[in-house]
Amino acid sequence: MKNILITGGAGFIGSHVALELLDSGYNVIVYDNLSNSSEESLKRVEELTGLSISFYKGDILDTNHVKEVLEKEKIEAVIHCAALKAVGESVKKPLLYYHNNITGTLSLLSAMEEVGVKNIIFSSSATVYGDPETVPITEDFPKGAPTNPYGWTKSMMEQIMTDLHTADPNWKVILLRYFNPIGAHKSGRIGEDPKGIPNNLLPYVTQVAIGKLPYLHVYGDDYDTHDGTGVRDYIHVVDLAKGHVKAIDNLDKLTGVEIFNLATGHGYSVLDIVKTFEKVNGVKIEYKIEGRREGDIDETYADASKAEKVLGWICDNGLEEMLEDSWRWQKNNPNGYEE
Ligand code: NAD
Ligand code: UFG
Repeated sequence: MKNILITGGAGFIGSHVALELLDSGYNVIVYDNLSNSSEESLKRVEELTGLSISFYKGDILDTNHVKEVLEKEKIEAVIHCAALKAVGESVKKPLLYYHNNITGTLSLLSAMEEVGVKNIIFSSSATVYGDPETVPITEDFPKGAPTNPYGWTKSMMEQIMTDLHTADPNWKVILLRYFNPIGAHKSGRIGEDPKGIPNNLLPYVTQVAIGKLPYLHVYGDDYDTHDGTGVRDYIHVVDLAKGHVKAIDNLDKLTGVEIFNLATGHGYSVLDIVKTFEKVNGVKIEYKIEGRREGDIDETYADASKAEKVLGWICDNGLEEMLEDSWRWQKNNPNGYEE
């Protein structure tokens, strides 16, 4: 296994996966329509690794183009990161989300089937568990009801790939359920570059820290958690990226549909994040407690021991490193990839 295609590879997670794959000796081919990213991320990955990426600007909805690239580049496995991911926007524009994520995935899978590429590693999400009855969450927990169309697209795409394997066991399907990826590469050269006002906690915090936004809105302090604010399992994006390399490394020994939680197994609250960020970076984060955000759950964190046992994957970075690295990226790139 050598030639790996990453759909959505110019994005936050895909660019970190590209870097780790290159560092591990794989050839990386990226397919992205740049709807939520910039080619600059890939240039920086090349600069950091001293290796090159074959980049194709294209849309996964374009089945023929995807097919051409799969054949031309002799792709052996696909890491499928391309998706629209803004939860709030998905509530307002469900058709856009179902079309891009579901129809896009059907198009990609058809192209793969036609050319006989039957190895797929999918960027799934903890959102497929819905509101779990207990924590920590293991992979055999039942899927729940996502609270928004984005979450449903992830759940449905998992089902589509599972059904594909049932129909044709030659398909290998690895479903990686990410918890909350944050942080950035230690170099401060690649990181998360949200367009407009960030939806997610960390980019919001770093934009408050740099003075672009006046204060953090803390959505609710009456949850059933140690300080009343929402608890999540934050994972360093570089550790997450290494999980993908481990999945590819182990593809030969995996059979069928395999699910892995990618997480650290530790839950931290919004106020834990604020306080730790202030402590490790020496920057004050102004915040105001506000009402709950619709669709949020109180607490989620994972049991990630399956990935350790089966793939030999462990996280190297704790919360302090995640928050230092998020800040370094923001400080060095106040306008993201726009110079
Ligand atoms: P991102 O927006 O930075 O990256 C997604 C990439 O996909 C972008 O570069 C975008 O241009 C591209 N893309 C979108 N639609 C496309 C299409 N139709 N054709 C080609 N390219 C397309 O997001 P990310 O945070 O890097 O997320 C990557 C994947 O991980 C997504 O599937 C997302 O749903 C999933 N995920 C993310 C998180 C998170 O918190 N970041 C959590 C769980 C799962
Ligand atoms: N939060 C705030 N203020 C903000 C943003 C977030 O208080 O400005 C709080 C939320 O209420 C939540 C926590 O910070 O308690 C984390 O919120 P995020 O939006 O960063 O992350 P979520 O857990 O809500 O959602 C993320 C991804 C989804 C994915 C989900 C599960 O954004 O795509 O994890 O994997 F589905």
